[in-house]
Amino acid sequence: MKAVVFDHCGDPAAVLQVRDVPMPRPGRGEVRIRMLASPVNPSDLLFIQGAYGQKPRLPATPGFEGVGVVEESGGGLLGRRVLGRRVAVINDRSGNWQEHVIIPARQAIPVPENLADEQVAMFFVNPASALAMVQYILRVPRGCWLLQSAAGSALGRMVIRLGKECGFRTINLVRRAEQVEELRQAGGDVVLCTSTEPIVERVLQLTAGKGVSFALDAVSGTTGAQMVECLGRGGRMLVYGVLANEPMRIESRTLIVGQKRVEGFWLSEWMRQQRVWTLLGLFRRIGKMMRAGLVTTKVQETYPLEAIATAVRCATEPGRSGKVLLRIGTRTTTASG
Ligand SMILES: NC(=O)c1ccc[n+]([C@@H]2O[C@H](COP(=O)([O-])OP(=O)(O)OC[C@H]3O[C@@H](n4cnc5c(N)ncnc54)[C@H](OP(=O)(O)O)[C@@H]3O)[C@@H](O)[C@H]2O)c1
Repeated sequence: MKAVVFDHCGDPAAVLQVRDVPMPRPGRGEVRIRMLASPVNPSDLLFIQGAYGQKPRLPATPGFEGVGVVEESGGGLLGRRVLGRRVAVINDRSGNWQEHVIIPARQAIPVPENLADEQVAMFFVNPASALAMVQYILRVPRGCWLLQSAAGSALGRMVIRLGKECGFRTINLVRRAEQVEELRQAGGDVVLCTSTEPIVERVLQLTAGKGVSFALDAVSGTTGAQMVECLGRGGRMLVYGVLANEPMRIESRTLIVGQKRVEGFWLSEWMRQQRVWTLLGLFRRIGKMMRAGLVTTKVQETYPLEAIATAVRCATEPGRSGKVLLRIGTRTTTASG
């Protein structure tokens, strides 16, 4: 079978190769899945560069999420339950950018049949993070402001829609002026461009000098530091991405006065801390919200595994209009090996 593999960390377009590898066999409690599709997410690119929280065991295959069909169970109740079904594939071990994967049966999440494959491929990383941060951790109340950076990202757009659904208002930061009007149309209450507007002044004006109580930052660097200055008394900011690849310089005084908090969020660690029933509830909620279009993601381009270098190049280009998706198989293909 075909797999995308890298032997050393580095620029994804340079280090990824497509190779023939042996078909894996599931052990007890595991399932073998024939992959249909998997997105190229920022976390996958960081993983390939060796800059992600979880380091690759080389040679490695990337791809933390995706969609596939369970074709073989290695035994156990959970494996039997999902056999033959289309599932969202959560894979933090062997990587989804290959034709077949082995994962623990509990990480094969059955999803409603009326969702498109391409959406199920993106069922997990962004929807679960958006919901976890907004509804489980910050619990942003109705009527409150939430400030967020990288608002035009797939996750940022979900937060905007969640704001509309749950009744909180969003102040959205983008780096390109041409994205301002588009995000307003998409439901952003306020959209500010970090390269042309004085962010701190504008946010303080909007909040009558009080600042915001809640913020989500995926950029870091200057943008992240400005967001900390926008926090009001008792304000709380979750840091969940490093898109600028720069440290965030914060004046300690800013945090001390008003007892503000800046905290990290990492989905895999947060999930490990949750009870099974919390996660089952979260997955049910994502299914419902995906059907309602609240946590869906636009796809810009789809590539086969063989075009992996073009796919990762496209995923790192500024100004994309949607996700890059790897199309690995089709639902009608029969299993090989
Ligand atoms: N901590 C966690 O557990 C967790 C979970 C999920 C996602 N994330 C993080 O969430 C972020 C968004 O993910 P996604 O999949 O939604 O992204 P995405 O759809 O691939 O979009 C990336 C976005 O980042 C913007 N961007 C890139 N570099 C930037 C920079 N230097 N300054 C400002 N904006 C920049 C792009 O803006 P342009 O449109 O201008 O190019 C684009 O809107 C990523 O950082 C990802 O790692 C973290």
